[in-house]
Amino acid sequence: MLFQLSAATALAFATAAQAAPENLGQCTGGIFPTQIRLAYAGDHGMAVSWNTKLQLTHPTVYFGKDQRLNRVAQSDVSTTYPSSSTYNNHVVLTGLEPNTAYFYKPNCGNVTYTFTTARRPGQKTEFSFAMVGDMGTFGPDGLSTTVGKGAANPLKPGDLTTVQSLAARQGSYDFVWHVGDLAYADAWIKEEKGGYVSPYNLTDNGAEYDRILNDFYDEIEELSSGKPYMVGPGNHEANCDNGSDLSVCVPGQLNFTGYRQHWNMPSAESGGLENFWYSFDHGMVHFVMFNTETDFPNAPDEPGGEGAENAGPFAPTGAQLAWLKKDLAAVDRKKTPWVVAAGHRPWYVSTTVCTECQAAFEPILIEYGVDLVLHGHKHFYERHAAVANNVTQEITNNPTAPWYVVNGAGGHYDGLDTPSAPYVSTSRDVIVAYGWSLFTVHNCSHLTTQFIGSANNTILDTATLIKDHCHPDDGDGCPV
Ligand SMILES: *[C@@H]1O[C@H](CO)[C@@H](O)[C@H](O)[C@H]1NC(C)=O
Ligand SMILES: *[C@@H]1O[C@H](CO)[C@@H](O)[C@H](O)[C@H]1NC(C)=O
Ligand SMILES: *[C@@H]1O[C@H](CO)[C@@H](O)[C@H](O)[C@H]1NC(C)=O
Ligand SMILES: *[C@@H]1O[C@H](CO)[C@@H](O)[C@H](O)[C@H]1NC(C)=O
Ligand SMILES: *[C@@H]1O[C@H](CO)[C@@H](O)[C@H](O)[C@H]1NC(C)=O
Ligand SMILES: *[C@@H]1O[C@H](CO)[C@@H](O)[C@H](O)[C@H]1NC(C)=O
Ligand SMILES: *[C@@H]1O[C@H](CO)[C@@H](O)[C@H](O)[C@H]1NC(C)=O
Repeated sequence: MLFQLSAATALAFATAAQAAPENLGQCTGGIFPTQIRLAYAGDHGMAVSWNTKLQLTHPTVYFGKDQRLNRVAQSDVSTTYPSSSTYNNHVVLTGLEPNTAYFYKPNCGNVTYTFTTARRPGQKTEFSFAMVGDMGTFGPDGLSTTVGKGAANPLKPGDLTTVQSLAARQGSYDFVWHVGDLAYADAWIKEEKGGYVSPYNLTDNGAEYDRILNDFYDEIEELSSGKPYMVGPGNHEANCDNGSDLSVCVPGQLNFTGYRQHWNMPSAESGGLENFWYSFDHGMVHFVMFNTETDFPNAPDEPGGEGAENAGPFAPTGAQLAWLKKDLAAVDRKKTPWVVAAGHRPWYVSTTVCTECQAAFEPILIEYGVDLVLHGHKHFYERHAAVANNVTQEITNNPTAPWYVVNGAGGHYDGLDTPSAPYVSTSRDVIVAYGWSLFTVHNCSHLTTQFIGSANNTILDTATLIKDHCHPDDGDGCPV
């Protein structure tokens, strides 16, 4: 089910007049575009993805700087997998100007959407991005005001969901970064067994798995159709939440199958791999997604790994770590003084940690001076100090070690986790509530995080990293 989108992907560029719209006059039902989602695609591109009931021969996007949509891009990527009721369509718009608003519409759509392209690498103006981890479907098939047997932490009546909270502040950030565990469609077994949804039906070929997944993509469309929605792999993209009995699990939930097909992260543009590892520049920051699930020594989701997901590997041995080193070594810190990395599983956190992840990734993140590391996986918020090899440094004093923020509090059917007291020595603040993080990169010296409690959309934690990334010849106007 592997599809590769690369520069070689057939992208026909023509004027709208030259293009032959697919099935003109039949733009209803099966080819109506749903679940529209964007992702950055290099400095001058934007990936547009959407789902349809029927396969498209030439997924097509009309776009332009105004509502006339005078340009068109196409691909031949329209894929599905067993147990899915939809096709995943992917088109990359290229040749875009940085930090510029465009209008776009997938073929047969009845809404013209708009997005703003990435800030030019090296542009030294303040911006914010949203980070969320471990966010599932909300509503009757996911997290709501009631729970089934064995689940906990329902929403209180009147609480905003994390999607609603993110939507309410959509004007305040450039993009969303969801660092693993999307939808929690694999919770269908738990939900059915817990009597939360019925019936408990093991012979419907994963109908409920597919329904929860579609609920999720419908729900985030409000976010993902207007802002890039960047994602990384989490264990729930490969999980069969029933111990090791894989017999009840549908193909879409195993081996990252649905995840690999739904997204189009900028790996082709950054030498990475599919939606597993990739990087992109945005203004003052080089962003790097790495994969804590497979493709490094003793990776938890690989056969024999502690996660028991029996997934991957997806690349030759050593490929991910070699890519990460090469990617970080190539960063021009004059252009992008900040480097922010994210991977799903944490190793500094007040509960069970991923020691294999620490062994694989921490030495590289330290060696290349990564400023900030974001994790999810544990269902609470924990802000740490800057840390290297378990030794802390304070974030206000130009630390040389990476700063760590764990936020897997997006919210899903199964509720929140309880951190273990006493908290680890690196811990600086713990909040057990649903929420997401707003990061603001002010300039070459200050980077602030805020934890936003979703329920009432209020700021529950704030902290600022202060580093000396300012150099007079960087064109950033900062003092040395
Ligand atoms: C677009 O079409 C969909 C599906 O038919 C419909 O639900 C929606 O209301 C329409 N939106 C507009 C703005 O026409
Ligand atoms: C389970 O799903 C199958 C296949 O869709 C259907 O035929 C059957 O009636 C369902 N059973 C129950 C109890 O709903
Ligand atoms: C889940 O696992 C348990 C034991 O781990 C097994 O008894 C059960 O049959 C499995 N399947 C389902 C659908 O629960
Ligand atoms: C998962 O997918 C990868 C890549 O296609 C493949 O190498 C591996 O064998 C698959 N694992 C399982 C358990 O199917
Ligand atoms: C950090 O501490 C953990 C837990 O105590 C330990 O397993 C690990 O070996 C330590 N790592 C280093 C680099 O000291
Ligand atoms: C907002 O929600 C948080 C918990 O998420 C709670 O501690 C706080 O008191 C609430 N604030 C207001 C103003 O309701
Ligand atoms: C950088 O931003 C911080 C936070 O807004 C501000 O306090 C500081 O003065 C700024 N520094 C420069 C050199 O602009």
